[in-house]
This record gives sequence, structure tokens and C-alpha cells, in this order.
Amino acid sequence: MHDLIHRPRRLRRRAPLRALVRETQLAREDFVLPFFVCTGEGVRREVPSMPGVHNLSVDRVVREAADAFELGIQAVLLFGLPESKDETATGAYAENGIVQQAIRAIRRAVPEMIIVADTCLCEYTSHGHCGVIREGEVLNDETLSLLARTAISQAEAGADIIAPSAMMDGQVAAIREGLDDSGFDHVPIMSYAVKYASAFYGPFREAADSAPAFGDRRAYQMDAGNAREAMREAELDYAEGADMLMVKPALPYLDILKAVRDRFDLPLAAYHVSGEYAMIKAAAERGWIDEERVMMETLTGIKRAGADIIITYYAREAVKAIKKY
Ligand code: PBG
Repeated sequence: MHDLIHRPRRLRRRAPLRALVRETQLAREDFVLPFFVCTGEGVRREVPSMPGVHNLSVDRVVREAADAFELGIQAVLLFGLPESKDETATGAYAENGIVQQAIRAIRRAVPEMIIVADTCLCEYTSHGHCGVIREGEVLNDETLSLLARTAISQAEAGADIIAPSAMMDGQVAAIREGLDDSGFDHVPIMSYAVKYASAFYGPFREAADSAPAFGDRRAYQMDAGNAREAMREAELDYAEGADMLMVKPALPYLDILKAVRDRFDLPLAAYHVSGEYAMIKAAAERGWIDEERVMMETLTGIKRAGADIIITYYAREAVKAIKKY
């Protein structure tokens, strides 16, 4: 076998050589760390299905945001657990709503932090759906004005990026118009353009107390089998003025991520969701896998498939591990 010309192994012999030719590198700027903000003071309640993830009161979320910033994380994504819920999700757009309070407090304590506000109603509705309900149906157009109101109140509180996740048709256009009319034409929209109806959101619904009281979200979130439809969703959001696109979940949809990457030139985010996180945690707790290596391999795969931005509950651990890989 002395006549082999190509020997790919030549470049794999030592770690520095492998690093030299590595095509995809994770960087701390890639990550967005989600937080679940709850009422009260001094609250830090672990989510049972998401070890290492907590419901945090505003004072605590400020502390954790500051610590994350120290580590090199420059963006957080906020979800809220309001004091009370109602039919029209009043807590989502209340001037002193839980997320609005958290935005102001983080802005004050960590001015440089990029604050992304998730814009949806499901954490704030008594029925847990992402929009207004009539006769068991989630109404599209009636929901749009509430989403726009929510986005405006988040921008007023100081959010840097609005991230609509309700999967209502026309939500990007409605939010863009609302923001522009209120003097926030400089605030970008990161659209959850391609969001599948996924069982991988299970642990999140425990964390955010947002499981639908009846039915499921299949009448507004996407069907797992559809790839061409993902292009249409992305196209619409692009046309409606989205500044960034997102695909969610990440790992089971890497083909979609790649296809969106190839077709659109907007910055692209991938959401490594709660169930993806929980699976790694659970297997690692049993000693079945090496948590850090599986985490890094997963996040590298998401970036390699085309994500510029990765939203993950592992952001802190990933940033710490980057030096070693
Ligand atoms: C709100 C929203 C959800 C997630 C992000 N925004 C839940 C859902 O659609 O049911 C899921 C995130 C995760 O699982 O980590 N609509």
C-alpha cells in the first residue's frame, strides 16, 4: 500500500494539526442563553426535567445574567412566568410584566448584554395556547394585535431583539408595523420562522408552565414531515421584514437548517430545545455518555449545518468547554 497518494490521516495526527484544519469552530459569540423569569424574590427553583435550569426571580436573573456575561455570553433570551394568567394574556404586554421587569433590571446591571425577548402568549394565557381562543380554535388575526402589543412593551422596556414564536400567520409584519409606529424601527426581529410542533418542547412547558390545557399546537406549529413548507415559512417571514430567521428544534431538523442556510442570506439561529438538552442530561446522569463531549459534538453539528446563532441551555458549559476543543 505504499502507492497511496492521499492519506487524510496525515492531518489528524496531533491535536494542534487537527485544530489548524478544523472547518467549524464554536465561539462564545455564537450562544444565546435562555432564562425563565418568575415572580418573587430570591427564587431559584430548579426545573425537574431540566437539571441546571431554574425559574429565577428578577433579582436572581440579574445575578445569573451578570455571571454569564463574565463568562463571555453576550446574549440572553427571556421567558416569563407571570403572577396570573387570563384569556387574553394580559401579562405578556403589561408595562410592569415579569419579562418587562427583567429586561429593565438586566439592562441596568449588565448594560452591554444583548436582551432577546421571546414574543408569545402561551406563558400568559389561562389555556396555554399561543393565541386568543374562540370555540376551541386559536384565532390568527385577533392574536396579531396582542403580539404586536407585547413586542412594543418589550421594546419599551429595552429589549434589543424581538423574537416572535407564536407561529401565527403574518406575525412578523404585524410586529414590524407595531414597532415602527411606536418609534422602534431600529429594533430587529429574530423570527422563529420554522418552528415544528415538537415533543422536544416537553421540558420547556414544565419550565415555563405553558402546556396547553386542551389539544396541542399542531394547528399552528409545523408538521415534522415537511421540508418544502419550511422554505415557504422562511420566505414569508423574510418578505414580512424579519432580520434573522430561526429553525427549531435543532438536532432533528439539521437538514432544514442547512436548506434555510443555503437559500436565505439572513443571519440564522437554531434553537437547541429543552428536550434535546434533557436527553443529554439524562443519559449523562446515568453514566451512559460523556456529557461535555456529546454537548460539544451536538453544538458543533448545529453550527456546521448552518447556524450562526445557537440558543441553548448549555451556553455556559459550552463557553467554558470551548478552550479545550
Ligand atoms: C413559546 C415557546 C416554546 C419554546 C420556545 N418558545 C414552547 C412551545 O412552543 O410550546 C420551546 C423551547 C424549548 O423547548 O426549549 N411558544
